[in-house]
Amino acid sequence: MFEERKAVTAVESSTQVVLGGTRGGPDVSTLRQDRWWLQPVITVSILTSFVIYATWAAFQGVNYFVGATGVHELISPFYSPCLSTSCVEGSNSFGFAFNVGSLSPALIILIFPLGFRMTCYYYRRSYYRAFWWSPPACAVADAHTNYSGETRFPLVIQNAHRYFFYFGVAFNVLLTYDAIRSFHVIGGGWGVSVGSLVLTLNATLLWLYSLSCHACRHICGGQVRSFSQHPIRHKLWKLATPLNAKHMNFAWASLFVVALTDVYVRLVSSGAIRDLVFF
Ligand code: FES
Repeated sequence: MFEERKAVTAVESSTQVVLGGTRGGPDVSTLRQDRWWLQPVITVSILTSFVIYATWAAFQGVNYFVGATGVHELISPFYSPCLSTSCVEGSNSFGFAFNVGSLSPALIILIFPLGFRMTCYYYRRSYYRAFWWSPPACAVADAHTNYSGETRFPLVIQNAHRYFFYFGVAFNVLLTYDAIRSFHVIGGGWGVSVGSLVLTLNATLLWLYSLSCHACRHICGGQVRSFSQHPIRHKLWKLATPLNAKHMNFAWASLFVVALTDVYVRLVSSGAIRDLVFF
């Protein structure tokens, strides 16, 4: 009898929740009392700032390379690889180039790193919450009544993430080459400058971002029924798993540093500052 009364009281004092429906009852968007809106606001602020800066930098078409006028060769990650016939002398490490007229060289390559980030599982969660409010936070009502997932255009494109991952890895190889090249002193020998350290930090964080990717972890250990029969994939999966747990940190750190690297190269190339050379 006592147990029965306890159960009835618990039902009466609880909030009726319809799975997949509005959380917190039909008249309120949420019962949360904390500052749940803070994280979406921060996400919107950072991503919007990055998009504005990256768009501005990509359209500039100048001050993306430090060549013979500097001590170390530095190239902005937004412009590498530089594959336009309009690329400044020394910035194209390849034997070919495309004639794209007056279009900025960044615009012909940016789709690959941009596509990799835009379709990233972590960023998807972040910007669906922050921009779409779908939902803005846990236990807060969606701003939309319908949900079709990623089954229709344009969101169905998100499924291409694993392919953008391969492009991301190829770009990492190129940016690693740029970082190594930045230790080479123009005129002969090797040395270290702030610029070479910045390019190295950028390449390192981009590798960590890519290797911690969910698609990378799946490539390592996905669809394996028995790890004992696939020891190499098991080892790779064990390497990828702890990195994967920190994917969010690498996502933000690499985003910040890739913009910082462009800013640094831009300042040195324009003559606003000098690349500080250690030796
Ligand atoms: S999940 Fe974020 S880069 Fe793949």
